[in-house]
Amino acid sequence: MALSRRSFVKAVGVGAGGALSSSFISARGREAWRWGEEPPSADSSEIPLSSNENPLGPGDAVLDAIRKGLGPEGALPGRYPGDYYRDPIAEAIAGKFGVQPENVLVGAGSTQILVTATQVYTSKDSPLVGSLPTYEECAGYAAVIGSRVKAVPLDSRYKMDLGRTLHAAKGAGMLFYCNPNNPVATMVSTSDTKNFLSRMLKYSPETHILVDEAYIDYVNDPGHETMIPLAMADPRVIVARTFSKAYGMAGLRVGYAIAHADTIKELSAWHMGNSISGLSFAAAIAAIEQDSSFIENERARNTKVREFTTDFFRKRGHGVTDSQTNFLFVDVGMPIEEFREACKKRGVRVGRPFPPLWTHCRISLGTMQEMQRATKVFAEVLGAARKSAA
Ligand SMILES: Cc1ncc(COP(=O)(O)O)c(C=O)c1O
Repeated sequence: MALSRRSFVKAVGVGAGGALSSSFISARGREAWRWGEEPPSADSSEIPLSSNENPLGPGDAVLDAIRKGLGPEGALPGRYPGDYYRDPIAEAIAGKFGVQPENVLVGAGSTQILVTATQVYTSKDSPLVGSLPTYEECAGYAAVIGSRVKAVPLDSRYKMDLGRTLHAAKGAGMLFYCNPNNPVATMVSTSDTKNFLSRMLKYSPETHILVDEAYIDYVNDPGHETMIPLAMADPRVIVARTFSKAYGMAGLRVGYAIAHADTIKELSAWHMGNSISGLSFAAAIAAIEQDSSFIENERARNTKVREFTTDFFRKRGHGVTDSQTNFLFVDVGMPIEEFREACKKRGVRVGRPFPPLWTHCRISLGTMQEMQRATKVFAEVLGAARKSAA
């Protein structure tokens, strides 16, 4: 979507909540766009289910903070944000998790955290280890800088295979531990994770572990815990978080790492500074300070949509992994490229292929209304494929 400076300022002005939240701030469809798809147009009736976003965007507190962040006459965007926001955001994040500001590193999305950690802890001789498939950012960057990558297939329930990972990661520079895991949506339980991480730290003292908790706000298991306390206890553990998912702020690009102060110092040495705009900082602070019911409501909304969409596929005999996220991973039983193209022709964008799972589709969850429309399209596409196979 092209957005001129004038129309942006106008959009941020009086009564612009709708314009901001629907297309610009939540940036729906932008993740897929990065991976080679053309972006959906802002006013299209297409249903964008190809990037894992909160389809409703951020709450009013965030939108208000952006309007206020412009300052009188829009003057604040003319200032570098560091002086105004660096300390307050670190303090706000630290306060939320009961850690110190020196345990926090903020990035332009958690993407920047993933890239920095890959830069610092991997090399040709210190490989990156992760599951196959998993979120590709670290492996993609490792390839750019010439670091070796080892990929460990998932187990039969599409969960990370902890036994094989333990052995593969012996002597590695960094293990990327994405839990819940994108694109497969599954989660390793807290007790298995704790047990595995403590074994891993003993078994391979030279390995750092990046625990990616991008989807933690969508987990329903009441016993699920963050690994932040472990990161506080062991400098080799880093937890990455983002405002792009349940907070609905993918277009604002704010994420962060929580780790031991020494580890944050190590990462900071390679971290590009001034990568986040003042408006995004202001929005992120407001997001943390807003009523916790925002995230609880978003989790509850997503859970209903997830159940509805999971039922749709399971009733038709399609395997769906046990999702703890805002997307599903479905065996559509036909080549993913064909399924994707047929859905796109009918106005629904679904996820890109995730090799080597060529008949599986990642379907991000939209609103209930969108999923009611989208499942009609899925029924049509899958029905036609069945007919032609018969
Ligand atoms: C597991 C995981 N980690 C990190 C990211 C990066 O998100 P962002 O840079 O928007 O914080 C994504 C994006 O989809 C993701 O799925």
